[in-house]
This record gives sequence, structure tokens and C-alpha cells, in this order.
Amino acid sequence: MTTRAAAEEGEPYGVFKLNYDISNDVAAKSAGWKTPIVVAVSGAAGQISNHLLFKIASGEVYGADQPIILNLLGSERSKEALEGVAMELEDSLYPLLRQVNIGIDPLKIFKDAEWALLIGAKPRGPGMERSDLLEMNGQIFVEQGKALNEVANKTCKVCVVGNPCNTNALIAMENAPNLDRKNFHALTRLDENRAKCQLALKAGVFYDTVSNVTIWGNHSTTQVPDFVNAKIDGKKAVEVIGDDAWLEEEFTPTIQTRGGALIKKWGRSSAASTAVSIADAIKSLVTPTPEGDWFSTAVSTDGNPYGIAEGIVFSMPCRSKGDGSYEFVEGLEINDWLREKIKASEEELTKEADCVSHLTGKLGGACELQGAGTDTMLPGEN
Ligand code: LMR
Repeated sequence: MTTRAAAEEGEPYGVFKLNYDISNDVAAKSAGWKTPIVVAVSGAAGQISNHLLFKIASGEVYGADQPIILNLLGSERSKEALEGVAMELEDSLYPLLRQVNIGIDPLKIFKDAEWALLIGAKPRGPGMERSDLLEMNGQIFVEQGKALNEVANKTCKVCVVGNPCNTNALIAMENAPNLDRKNFHALTRLDENRAKCQLALKAGVFYDTVSNVTIWGNHSTTQVPDFVNAKIDGKKAVEVIGDDAWLEEEFTPTIQTRGGALIKKWGRSSAASTAVSIADAIKSLVTPTPEGDWFSTAVSTDGNPYGIAEGIVFSMPCRSKGDGSYEFVEGLEINDWLREKIKASEEELTKEADCVSHLTGKLGGACELQGAGTDTMLPGEN
């Protein structure tokens, strides 16, 4: 039975609810199902969510026995569209989707969230570097961090996708002291997937043969796709490929600028592949990592084993037992080439952190970031 309640008159931030009650159904159908989990998604009427929500509702992300309550956050502008998203979810007949709540107030939509996927933010367009969005989007993550702090489940896992995602995750984390800092992530799985694709293409193998790929640092053009520790069919990728010049001069910049290259083609940023990588990032936390392998996610540097400055959100190699938490993978080979590149990304993130110190309650230095980069410049621009 479906009950619908429209937004209450006079409420500035109405939450209207599509509440799907299965009390009239035979119990046997859902026997063995786990307790439903609340997954909150911001930017829910956007293109990334339009791919992601249907994956989540289908069971492919959290498992075939995991019922889902989707709490969808939109904006004043996307209110109608959000209702359209909820209607399409209803029409898709996903048994595991137990409830859809939509609204524009994070204090209502993040209530009891066990996962918060923070996708909504202004995306960059042609001619912009991701860090150009710092000031524009930073405030969103202050508000959402505070809301999570107040109303989310205390074990809530937060995955920040809106750019610049590392520093937005830092802002949200610093504004949510009630939540475990270890539970904040910024998405670099998209970069890992891009790196695996290019290594597989070069080696002439399927993607699943490529493992142990780390993205170090910032989800920006300073990111470091680590081919030194990557493996292809269990062997060192460097040996299988046997072309250091390609790895350093073609592979590395291709991954660093892939987001920009897509913006040039589409006129907007990637959506479907981002959604796939969010699904992959969640799966990596809710299923045990295969023996000997790891995945990349940008997390708080507190207590990291690689000597990266603390107080930033930095992508590193991690493993999970499948319980939603992770641990750092130690002991990777850091040669001079990697060390120098990792340092550059660390410096960039430290500068980003300084630029948002007014949003994180820290006493930071002056904002020293340079202006727009060039990886999204359209042909003819400079
Ligand atoms: C991407 O990497 O595709 C996204 O972060 C969008 C962007 O601005 O590049």
C-alpha cells in the first residue's frame, strides 16, 4: 500500500514522503532479509544520482538481502524533479526498496542515515579546475556536515563526490565532530577504475586482471596513479608493460586529466562512470577485500603509515573486512618518482585546507591556490 503526503502548507522546507508499507504482504517473501538501512543521497535529482539510485535500489550495491530506505535530498530548484525520481523508483518495482523520502532540508533527509552519499554540488564546466569550486561548494559541506552531526546515525559512513571532493570531505568531517573521522571518504575510485582501464588496454588483458592500483592524493590533476605497485595478472605492471616512458608520460597524465577530457567531450562532467565508481567504492567497504589486494579511497590522514601530513583527506591504499570500516595497507614501495608526485598532491591539499580554514574552524594560512587550470579548456582556449 502506498501512502502519499504532500509537503505541509507553510513549511519552508517540506519533506514529502512516499512511504511503502508491506504489512499486507506474505512474510515469506522477505524472510531472511536484513533490517533496512537508511541511505541518504544529496544531489538526488542530478545525473550521477540518476544512474546510482537504481543500482542501489536493485540490491547490486548493498546486497540482495539488504532492504533500503532511500532519503533523497534536492534543492528548491529540483523539488519537482525529485518527485519524478521517486516516481521512477516506484515504477521500477525493486522489492528491496522499502521507502523513499524526498526533501530539501538536510536535517530531515539525513535523519538516522547510515550512509550519506554527498553528490550534490556545483560541478565544474569547461575552463575550470576542481579547486575553483572550493568557495562555491564549501558552504554546502559545512551545512551538510552540521546536519549529519546532529541527526545521522553515529556510525554513518559518508562518501563525498561533489568537487573538490577531498577538501569538501574535510569540511564535512570537521563540521561533524560526533561522527568518527574514519567514516569520511572522498571518491577516488573513479580514478582507480580509469587507471585499471588504461593499464588493461595497454597490456591487452581484461580489466579484472589488473589489481593493486592505488590513487594517491587529491582527486585533481595532481593525483598519482601508482603503476609502481600495480599488478597485472599477479605480476608487476611495470614489468608486464615494459615501457616506463609510456607509464610516466602518457598513462599518468591521461588519468590525471581524464575528468577534464570528458568535460570537453560532453560539455558537462562524467555521470554514469562516476555512479559506477560510487557503487564500487561502497561495495569495497561492505564486502571483504580479496586477499593481497586493496582499493583506493580518500580518507583522513590521521595516523597514516606513509608520513602524509595530518589534517587533510588524501587517497591511499585501504582494505576492508566488509563491515563498512577500512584499514590502511602498509609497506607499499614508494620510489623517488612516486615520492615527489605524492608530495605535490599533499602540498596542494594542504593549500586547499588553508583556503577553507574559515569553514573548518581552523587557524589556517593564507589561501595560496593558483587560478584555473587548463585540463578542461576547450580547443582554442588557453
Ligand atoms: C571527474 O573526474 O570526472 C569528475 O570529478 C568531474 C570533473 O570535474 O572532472
